[in-house]
Amino acid sequence: MDATEIPGELTRVHYTEAQILDRIAEVAAQIDADYAGKSTPLLLGVLNGAIMVMADLSRALTLHVEQDWMAVSSYGAGTQSSGVVRILKDLSVDIENRHVIVVEDIIDTGLTLAYLLQNLASRRPASLEVMTMFRKPEAFDSPIDPKYVGFDLPNEFVVGYGLDYAGRYRNLRDCATLSPSVYS
Ligand code: IMP
Repeated sequence: MDATEIPGELTRVHYTEAQILDRIAEVAAQIDADYAGKSTPLLLGVLNGAIMVMADLSRALTLHVEQDWMAVSSYGAGTQSSGVVRILKDLSVDIENRHVIVVEDIIDTGLTLAYLLQNLASRRPASLEVMTMFRKPEAFDSPIDPKYVGFDLPNEFVVGYGLDYAGRYRNLRDCATLSPSVYS
C-alpha cells in the first residue's frame, strides 16, 4: 500500500518509496567501494523491521554478500523504547574474522543496537559496521555512530518501509508519521 491508500492514518509522508530507493542506491555504491577487494561481507539484518531495507540494499550492491538475521525484542505494541533487549533469534553463522554490516530499519535511542553491537563484538568479527535506513534525533545522544545512514527523521513515531505499529504498516511503501489518532 502507499500513503494515498490509507487517508486519515498518517499525518505526514517523510520519504516516498522512490526517494528511499534512490538513497539506497547511493549507500550501496559507498558499501561497494568500501568493501571492494575484501572477503565477502555478511549483511546482518535485524528482524523484523529491516526486511525491506535488507531486500533493497542487498540487491543494489554489485558485491557478493551473504545475509543472515537476528531477532531482538524492542517496542512490543507500544511506541516507547523499553531498554529491555532480548535475543529471540540468534545468527546461524559464525562471524569470527568476518566483515559484518548490521542492517537496521531505524535507530531511535540506540539502546537496542548498543546491546547488539556489544554482543557481536565479543564474537571477534574482522570488522563491524552499521547501516541504518532511518535515524532519529535521540540517536545523537547515544554512543552509536552508524557508518551508513539513509535519512535522518524528526522525533516522531513513523511507520512504513518495514516499520510497524502493533504489527501493522510494515507493507506501507513510504515512510510516514503515524497519526496519533491511531494509537491514542
Ligand atoms: P531504539 O532502541 O530506541 O533505537 O529502538 C530501536 C527499535 O525500535 C527499531 O529497530 C524499531 O523496531 C523500533 N522503533 C524505533 N522508532 C520507531 C518508530 O518511529 N516507528 C516504529 N518503530 C520504531
